[in-house]
Amino acid sequence: MSVRTLLEQPRIWYGGDYNPEQWPEEVWHEDMRLMQQAGVNLVSIGIFAWSHLEPQPGQVEFGWLDRLMDLLYAHGVHAALSTATASPPPWLAHRHPDSLPVTADGVTLWPGGRQAYCPHSPAYRQAASALVMRLAERYRAHPALALWHINNEYGCHVSECFCDVSAAAFRQWLSERYGTLDELNQAWGTAFWSQRYGLWEEINPPRRAPTFANPTQQLDWRRFSSDSLIALGDMETAILRRITPHVPVTTNFMGFFKPADYRKWAHREDIVSLDTYPDPADPFAAAQNAAQCDLTRSLGDGKPWMLMEQTSSAVNWRSRNVLKQPGQMRLWSMQALARGANTILFFQWRAAKAGAEKFHGALVPHVGTQESRVWREVSALGNELQELGPLAQSRVQVDTALLVDWQSWWALELDSKPSTAVTFYDRLASFYGPLYATNMTSDFVFTDSDFANYKIVFVPNLYLVDDATAARLEAYVAGGGTVVMGFFSGIVDENEQIRLGGYPAPFRRMLGIRIEEFAPMAEGEHNALRFADGGSSVCDLWADVIDLEGASALATFTGNFYAGRAAITEHAFGRGRAIYIGTRLAPEAMAALLVRICAAAGVRPPANVPAGVEIVRRQTEDGRILWFVLNHRPELVTVTLPLAGTDVLTGAAVAGAVALEAYGVSIAQAG
Ligand code: GLA
Repeated sequence: MSVRTLLEQPRIWYGGDYNPEQWPEEVWHEDMRLMQQAGVNLVSIGIFAWSHLEPQPGQVEFGWLDRLMDLLYAHGVHAALSTATASPPPWLAHRHPDSLPVTADGVTLWPGGRQAYCPHSPAYRQAASALVMRLAERYRAHPALALWHINNEYGCHVSECFCDVSAAAFRQWLSERYGTLDELNQAWGTAFWSQRYGLWEEINPPRRAPTFANPTQQLDWRRFSSDSLIALGDMETAILRRITPHVPVTTNFMGFFKPADYRKWAHREDIVSLDTYPDPADPFAAAQNAAQCDLTRSLGDGKPWMLMEQTSSAVNWRSRNVLKQPGQMRLWSMQALARGANTILFFQWRAAKAGAEKFHGALVPHVGTQESRVWREVSALGNELQELGPLAQSRVQVDTALLVDWQSWWALELDSKPSTAVTFYDRLASFYGPLYATNMTSDFVFTDSDFANYKIVFVPNLYLVDDATAARLEAYVAGGGTVVMGFFSGIVDENEQIRLGGYPAPFRRMLGIRIEEFAPMAEGEHNALRFADGGSSVCDLWADVIDLEGASALATFTGNFYAGRAAITEHAFGRGRAIYIGTRLAPEAMAALLVRICAAAGVRPPANVPAGVEIVRRQTEDGRILWFVLNHRPELVTVTLPLAGTDVLTGAAVAGAVALEAYGVSIAQAG
């Protein structure tokens, strides 16, 4: 039975990356026993096993994997079988040194770590395709095979390659995009700095240059590099779909990963999956983790998604690897479930004895399972999740959405801008943070999404926008929606060329404003705002010098030559409202503003709870609402919920007040 069918079952998948090739086979038997104890029903196998599966070119050794697949199946564990292409064996580089990736500075990245391949290398592509074909043919009918896990974290270490083979591929990509050199010269604005191209061969990747490289060349390079990773995924997917059309395909995404346009990618998969490693030392870790979960759900248009990797305790790749506190692993796993996951997996099953990840957390730690806190927690969670199967089919409830777009992200963060301190993630977090803190759960939307599903669409930053997207946002507001737009949006077109006629040209009608000039602030510089209703706030980073053209000012600046001019505006447009925020507010003021805007659109926090308590609601197919209440605080809190019902985890009655221990979770169901 395939996971496509299994996924429709009321079941939560639990397990992790399993690397038995690192252990003698007698250990595998202990693994099976322990997996059963811990409620494990799915493991990702073979991710870094290429050199074990094909020790020399064409010489395959699948016997051990045959035995492993049989063993898993006999113990009720399914396999997310990897295509093992993420780390080529040493023989590939030895035979084909030109398969190695090269940086913008011309430095070759050698084997000895992992992922040492150029995405355009014919030798790599050929060897990888051959391996995928063999794996698919061998295991196509194996009953343990539940899912294909292709490659691993595409682009994690090497997301672009500047070698000559890549340069030729870039030229090819450009000729497909532009058709003629005239078109390219036009789009790239090569009249500037004597950059006009007369031959395709004159064009190179944006290798290290004396100063700023052409911005459109850089943007196209990002598009091309993202497309190249997607093409690698397509290459494997096409083989798998041909040989095993009944087995779904995923590859593990990394959330807000800049190099790859995951929206473009997600539709090519059967299910979207996420690797997430929030830093327990970061006070915003819970919000960041929530955002990664929301993004993953939204990439798949709300369908259930897989948490493919997290750690049970600590990672090994930060300079200081702080442990998850007791209870925090369960809490963050439940957070993923609350936000739409149907799968909770870890990197990795058994802590490694050798190699660069031997200090990484695992389900089975070095000390073994006796008297192990980590084992106690992971096995308790695995067993607890077995009872929560029906949750897997419910959908997360949201009223609002935040627009993100990879192309705009890339363009915003190119060099030679008014302020390089204006970055995508900071802009996003300034909106997401207050919404998260007030428990107004949001989806992410993309330029191709249907905005009409939401009462409010927040646009933290949309520096680059094409005509079609601008028109769709305007139509959404005209039709009754609310848009809340952050500064430095609507500035350039898809070629990174200024949209003339007063900023933000494509949104002026909708917003009822004209921005005469930008006034980015120096580091440490502040200004202040006076709100129309009497409040005030500091602001920093950026100020727009705004002319009102139909909008009214919700707040004005108090300092600098633009004192008294609008900083935040509101405009009734058609049947909707468009709000513009032309500076960075202090977080509390931003939160208050967003809460007010939400209330005006009929969106209210689900309950009044202390800071650090997260509430997310999921709705079952038969209309019942499940309230996930997550205490991110290290102490007991009591919250009052507007419902009476039952705690799904404990069976206890819930009538208003719920006490949550430190890092505790309650899932309350009304009725
Ligand atoms: C990533 C990789 C894993 C492992 C973990 C460690 O998620 O996919 O193979 O290296 O990081 O945190």
